Amino acid sequence: MLTDAYGNSLSTKSAVARDAYDLGVRKFLGAEPDVSEAFNQALEADDSFALAHIGLAREMQMRSQTGHVKANLARARELAEGLSDRERSHIDTTGLLLEGKSAAARAAVYEHVEEWPTDVMIAQMCTSVFGLIGFSGLPGREAEQLAYTTRLTRHYGANWWFRAQLAFAQLEVGQLAAAEANIETALEANPNSAHSAHIRAHLYYENQQDSEGLRYLTEWWKDYSPEGTLHNHVSWHVGLWSLEAGDLDRMWQVLDAQIAPEISHGPPLNVLTDASALLFRAELMGVDIPTERWRKISDYAVARFPKTGLAFADVHAAIAHARSGNREALDTIIENARGPAGDLTSTLAMGYKAMEDGSWASAAEFFEDAVRDHARIGGSNAQRDLIDFSLAACLARDGRRQEARTVLKITRPRALDKELVAGL
Ligand SMILES: [Fe+2]
Repeated sequence: MLTDAYGNSLSTKSAVARDAYDLGVRKFLGAEPDVSEAFNQALEADDSFALAHIGLAREMQMRSQTGHVKANLARARELAEGLSDRERSHIDTTGLLLEGKSAAARAAVYEHVEEWPTDVMIAQMCTSVFGLIGFSGLPGREAEQLAYTTRLTRHYGANWWFRAQLAFAQLEVGQLAAAEANIETALEANPNSAHSAHIRAHLYYENQQDSEGLRYLTEWWKDYSPEGTLHNHVSWHVGLWSLEAGDLDRMWQVLDAQIAPEISHGPPLNVLTDASALLFRAELMGVDIPTERWRKISDYAVARFPKTGLAFADVHAAIAHARSGNREALDTIIENARGPAGDLTSTLAMGYKAMEDGSWASAAEFFEDAVRDHARIGGSNAQRDLIDFSLAACLARDGRRQEARTVLKITRPRALDKELVAGL
C-alpha cells in the first residue's frame, strides 16, 4: 500500500498520483504557487483519489472559488465509501471546515489528530493565526494555539512545516528565543515556504528589528510568485515596514501593485484586511489618504463579505466603511455582528464610528473595552496593533497624551520609539 510523505496510507494505487499529491500538500503548506496544478496532476493519474479532490477543495476555498470547492467536496464524499477510517475522517473533517461549521470542525480536528496526528492537512487546520483556533473567538486562544501545536512535537520532530507553525505560536506569546530556533530550522529545511518566510518576518517585527526585517523580506519576496496565496499578505508586511521607515513612495507602490482590491488576486480575507490595515496605519501616522481609496475597500468589503461572522474581516470592513462615509454598511456591522467574537466586532465598529464623529472620549472607551482580549478577533499581534494604536490616537486627540503614551509603553513600546501614532 502506498503512503504519503507523512507516513499515512493512501487509497490510490498510482505512485504518480501519490507523488503529485505529496507535491500539492507541500506547496499548500508553504503557500507556494501551483498547488492546484499538483492536485490536478494527481487526479489525472487517478480520478478516484478522494484526498486529492479534498486538497484541491482546500486550495479553492483559499481562493474563494465556491463552485469548485463544492464540486470537489461532493466528489470526495462520493468516493468515501470503502476508504480507510483515516481517509473518511479526513473527508468528514474537511467537509465541516469547507461548509463553515468552524466550531464542529475544530472539535473534529482535535479528535482526528488524537488518532492520526501526522495527517498534516487536518493538523494544519488548527494552526496559525487564521486557523480554527485563531478564529475561534475563545478567550485565551493564543495559549491554546501554543498548547495544541506543542502537543504535536513528538510526531513531527524537525519537519519544516511543523517547526514554522510552532515558531508562530511561540512568538505570538513572546517566546522569541524558542521561536527563532524553530523558524531557522524550518527555513533551512524548506526555504521556499512563504509561511516560514512570513513567520520569520513576524519574529523580526516582535524583536523590533525593523530594518533587518524589511531587508530580509524584500529579498525573499522578489522571487515569490504573485500566484502564491500569501503574496498579498507578505506584500503588506513590506508595505507596512516601508511606511514605518518613512518611505511613502514605496508604500504606495506596494499598495497599488500588490495589495489594492482592484488588482490583487489574493484571498479576499487578505485583500480586505491588508488594504484596510495599511491605509489606516498610514493615517494614524499622519498620512493623508484620499476618500476614494477608502471607498474602493468599502465596496470590496460589501461585495465579498456581505454577511458578518468573521470578526477579523468585519472589523477591517468597519474601518473602511467609517472612513469612506458608508454609514449604512457600518451600522449593519454594528447591529448584526455575529460569530464567536461578534461582541468584540460590535464594540470595535462602534469605536470606529465614534472616532469618525470626533467623539474621542467615547471612541477611547470602546477601544479600552476591546484591548483587554482583542486576540479573540484572530490575526496576529502585528495586525492587532491597529487597535492599540487606535486607542492611543483617540486618547491623544482627547487631550490625554500621557495616558496614550502609558498605554503604548505597556502594549507596544515600538510605537513610541518609532512614532507610529501621530500626536504623541
Ligand atoms: Fe503577518
